[in-house]
Amino acid sequence: MSKKAIITGVEGYVPDYILNNDELSKMVDTSDEWIMTRIGVKERHILKEDGLGTSHLAEIAVKKLLEKTGTKPEEVDMLLCATVTPDMMFPATANIICDKVGILNAWGYDINAGCSGFIFSLETAASFIESGRSKKMILVTGERMSAITDYTDRTTCPLFGDAAVAMLIEPTEDESLGLQDSILHVDGIGRQYLYQKAGGSMYPASEESVKNREHFIYQDGQTVFKYAVSRMADVSVELMDRHGLKADDIAYLIPHQANLRIIDATGKRMGLSTDKILINIQKFGNTAGTSIPLVLWEFEKNFKKGDTLIFSAFGAGFTWGSVYYKWGYDPRP
Ligand code: UT7
Repeated sequence: MSKKAIITGVEGYVPDYILNNDELSKMVDTSDEWIMTRIGVKERHILKEDGLGTSHLAEIAVKKLLEKTGTKPEEVDMLLCATVTPDMMFPATANIICDKVGILNAWGYDINAGCSGFIFSLETAASFIESGRSKKMILVTGERMSAITDYTDRTTCPLFGDAAVAMLIEPTEDESLGLQDSILHVDGIGRQYLYQKAGGSMYPASEESVKNREHFIYQDGQTVFKYAVSRMADVSVELMDRHGLKADDIAYLIPHQANLRIIDATGKRMGLSTDKILINIQKFGNTAGTSIPLVLWEFEKNFKKGDTLIFSAFGAGFTWGSVYYKWGYDPRP
């Protein structure tokens, strides 16, 4: 009997501190009006405390998920962590999360796919579940983007926020549910337009790298914008064509939350009305690979079993793709 992978529970965590556009306008030369018109972000949650990384956010999300789904840590056989802001270069943050939450019978690792982290790791998770190699997996996406955001650079600092979301992934024999198909891509041409230059093996940390602020995100926003608009839309339309999906067949598009204008352009190319496009960028900003799961967490109550969802993302690399997913359960009390 073949199996499909379904998400059977979602829980998230955002740190308490909220950095709004008015406060940001005191830090750099910007305004609420510019940020709302060009990006669509009103506020973002920031992990302020020193000495805490992505694993701290993920730990809380995973603990909440275990409680919500009545899962014991020892039942989990695998944990994947999608992040571009690991606690440290190594060991993988997946290890640290397992230790913090008492997941002792599992293996796992980190996946770095930029803002496509969720869709890439969901496809990876599904392969393990469909093959029977994993029966109960936790997929956690987490970012402390504030750790690599330069709060003196007005072109990037309004964009990003911190968050983590944990999802339980299990097999189902109902093939009409769960991950149905995906189209995913990588190329290296994007590496010059969106990256963190220093701190890896090519440019290790040095006095100079710190002085030059090369441990922060660099982005050529206009170029990334152009690629994101065309590629997110192209791949989503290709996925619809492949499955004969019309706009009416889709319950919701859940796009990566990088920029409201990119989201609108993708929705338009897919022929979707705005009520079918789920958005929370205004509250959380761009949380990289965590942005789609943050929407799943917030709107979980709105989904019905069998709803057709399209996830679409674009990120550093470049990485991009779309996923055709059938939601697995009705709203729970
Ligand atoms: O998540 C991974 C993928 N990332 C993305 O998808 C992000 C894609 N890029 C974008 O979303 C947009 O390019 C940004 C939001 C980053 C920038 O918007 P833009 O419309 O592309 O602005 P721009 O870079 O063309 O800048 C327009 C003007 C410039 O001034 P001049 O040269 O026209 O005088 C900038 O200096 O806006 C200026 N500017 C700002 N002004 C006020 C740039 N940032 C700000 C700011 N406040 N924060």
